[in-house]
Amino acid sequence: MTEIIATQAYKDQKPGTSGLRKKVTVFQQPHYLANFVQATFNVLEANGGIPEVLVVGGDGRYWGKEACQIIIKIALANGVKRLWIGENALLSTPAVSAIVREREGGFVAKGAFILTASHNPGGPTEDFGIKYNGENGGPAPEKLTNLIFSETLAISSYKVAGDAPVVDLAVIGKTNYNGAEIEVISSTEDYIGLLRKVFDFDALRKLVQRPDFSFVVDAMHGVAGPYATKVFVDILGAPTSSLLNAVPKEDFGQGHPDPNLTYAHELVEIMGLHADGSISEKSAEGIPAFGAAFDGDADRNMILGRQFFVTPSDSVALIAANSTAIPYFAAAGGVRSVARSMPTSGALDRVATALNIKLAEVPTGWKFFGNLMDSKTAFGGADYNPLICGEESFGTGSNHVREKDGLWAVLAWLSVIAAKNEGSATFISVQQIVEAHWKQFGRNYYCRYDYEGVTTEGADKVLAKVRATAADQIPLLGGVACVTIDDFEYKDPVDGSVSPNQGVRVLFADGSRFVLRLSGTGSSGATIRLYMEQYMGPEDVAKNIAEGSLPATRTALAELVTIALTVANIEAFTGRNAPTVIT
Ligand code: G6P
Ligand code: ZN
Repeated sequence: MTEIIATQAYKDQKPGTSGLRKKVTVFQQPHYLANFVQATFNVLEANGGIPEVLVVGGDGRYWGKEACQIIIKIALANGVKRLWIGENALLSTPAVSAIVREREGGFVAKGAFILTASHNPGGPTEDFGIKYNGENGGPAPEKLTNLIFSETLAISSYKVAGDAPVVDLAVIGKTNYNGAEIEVISSTEDYIGLLRKVFDFDALRKLVQRPDFSFVVDAMHGVAGPYATKVFVDILGAPTSSLLNAVPKEDFGQGHPDPNLTYAHELVEIMGLHADGSISEKSAEGIPAFGAAFDGDADRNMILGRQFFVTPSDSVALIAANSTAIPYFAAAGGVRSVARSMPTSGALDRVATALNIKLAEVPTGWKFFGNLMDSKTAFGGADYNPLICGEESFGTGSNHVREKDGLWAVLAWLSVIAAKNEGSATFISVQQIVEAHWKQFGRNYYCRYDYEGVTTEGADKVLAKVRATAADQIPLLGGVACVTIDDFEYKDPVDGSVSPNQGVRVLFADGSRFVLRLSGTGSSGATIRLYMEQYMGPEDVAKNIAEGSLPATRTALAELVTIALTVANIEAFTGRNAPTVIT
């Protein structure tokens, strides 16, 4: 029976880049989640209808199961016919995307709620989050999330199926309710089925079983664990010792499930590195040949070699340059286009030029890639797909789903490593593969400074200061002048929508640059991101490698860092004399 529950609107339910993220305690306020879910259904009803099928699952963080039960009752009352719930409420973000796109059942209209705050910590005093994904399996477009926000400001009641049963989320199976069906499904099956179509698992198995190859992946107690166990141990035959933190925990083992050099410290140490990317004292012997980490909802990834960090910007460029190592792309004769977010380095651009394929530069946020992937008409009628894309924020993926995909990135890397080592008696390492790439395309030195938890006023002042600076006031960088300072604006070639103010860019004549933008994913305060990039041509790279003198990132970017910090004056406006995180 449907009950109408009276409620009062909350004023703070504006979804950010990736849905609504707040402290658990905020979500636990009376009707808080219910309001947001009902507002979403109201907007869907007025814009094409309530989906027949709703997928629900998340990264396993604290309060996910409770949220799941609330959503089930509201969904049933709003006319959803079928609910597909991940076992134990677990579904990675890319798996949700795959289920919406691939799972059979004769239903056309599908949607999903993903219960995640991605890489933010979890637990009773930490973060929770929810986001809606539409029929294409990708995050709801901003048009829709803006409507949802307006609706949350006006909402006065929501519907629940009060007498619907509490579903046992631990048991796979179906429960019926008033002609609707609630099905607890395997968290891993559909998604791994898709990965099998994308990759050559036999080739990967051969690599994994080479005696001179070893690897370790760190699921950081997020939802990647069950997927990694199935793929690497059950299917590829790797030892369980190659998995780290593979059991999901509601508080991520009190960690910060963000795969970067700072937060994935356990893996970073194993791989023989320090948090700043420099090589540790540890002996190289016994260090695995390959390492990777995932974030809480398994859409992000970090790639490491033995004593070697691969920047996310280099990672996507290298996968794109070697896409024929992956059957999904090989079948199409290689990737047809590539895309990156604006702050991501230009390494991918060099590959696009060399392969003579299209490159799109979009604002930060995976949803911008989704539009390109779904388009059949952009760029004068050509289809973009297959498309590989990536972001500096440890996101990599392709059009196989409409989310970035951590497992995909790792399997893509393993595919490249397998292809490079095919028939090679001695093992060709990650470092050798990346250096060979730089020798061919040049190296885009790259670094990001984050200033987390600063005040919004301070952060705004920093950006305003840089924006107001004239190009000729910027000091020369190695004798090269700054030519432009602007705000990045993007016009979507598919739907024509314009996204202004996507970051302040300070561009030098030789393509070097620094960029400032504010994070769109925080749950409180503001975070300034400062991105710095400088290019070294292939000949210089080759010469330096031959002489054993290829500078480290910190050295190569030292002058640019000084200029950026002087111009932005972050310390004066925020009181911070050092970044919180460097990646
Ligand atoms: C999420 C999105 C990414 C985006 C990132 C940016 O992870 O899924 O597509 O790159 O947020 O985060 P930021 O905090 O820099 O806005
Ligand atoms: Zn994530």
